[in-house]
Amino acid sequence: MNFTNEKPFIAGNWKMFKTIPEAVDMVQKLHDASLGLEKAQFVVIPPYTALNEVSRVLKGSPVQIGAQNMHWEEQGAFTGEVAAPMLKDVGCTFVVIGHSERRQLFGETNETVNKKINTALTHGLVPIMCIGESLEEREKGHTISKVQAQITEGLEGLDAEKVLRIIIAYEPIWAIGTGLTATPNQAQEVHAFIRSALAEKHGNDVASYAIILYGGSVKPENTFSLLKENDINGALVGGASLNAASFAEIAREAIKAYEEK
Ligand code: PGA
Repeated sequence: MNFTNEKPFIAGNWKMFKTIPEAVDMVQKLHDASLGLEKAQFVVIPPYTALNEVSRVLKGSPVQIGAQNMHWEEQGAFTGEVAAPMLKDVGCTFVVIGHSERRQLFGETNETVNKKINTALTHGLVPIMCIGESLEEREKGHTISKVQAQITEGLEGLDAEKVLRIIIAYEPIWAIGTGLTATPNQAQEVHAFIRSALAEKHGNDVASYAIILYGGSVKPENTFSLLKENDINGALVGGASLNAASFAEIAREAIKAYEEK
């Protein structure tokens, strides 16, 4: 297993930012920032073009690497796409699947998410499946039903053994890149629901072991209160992960929250 729920799990999604020299500079700074490596689990998620070099620089480091997306086929005539074996090839352990930007801007659906998760697992990659509601859905009281459908359809056909190898990230769309964050209560409510849905379908062991991340404007100032919540095991950080100092600060706050839980 490449992860545990005994330590906070902090992943930095760099989205479409950073050239290779910028990416290398960032991981070197992270290295110097003494993240508290033994007390948390760290994953950096650079753009595809920087994966190889970041992986070379991080060789021997406990910081792991993820990709932002992949295709569900193993190879083929799919111009512009990247396949799971290619991600393994450049040192990825994790892969983000169904990020809301992919769903909203590139037409991804629960069905494609499900196919990608299956392929990722076949190739020994850990999928980080992103789910979450829009502002309109939240205002109409549809948060839980939206999240429920995303879990049911995204994990369709997967048995408990496979679900154990998946990380779920709850990312309310209205909180992503907007500066708005779900309150710890709002986030905890949905995280608890996700855990109960996993328990119902796959049993208590799967549910209690599951890592459920929160994402959406996570910053040093809100990390502690979010991660203190019972069902929040870590953070998927976008904007604030682009700067080594703020990522390191988030890590320190996450470790502190876990120590006090
Ligand atoms: P944000 O992005 O932290 O910039 O809101 C989070 C994400 O998209 O995973």
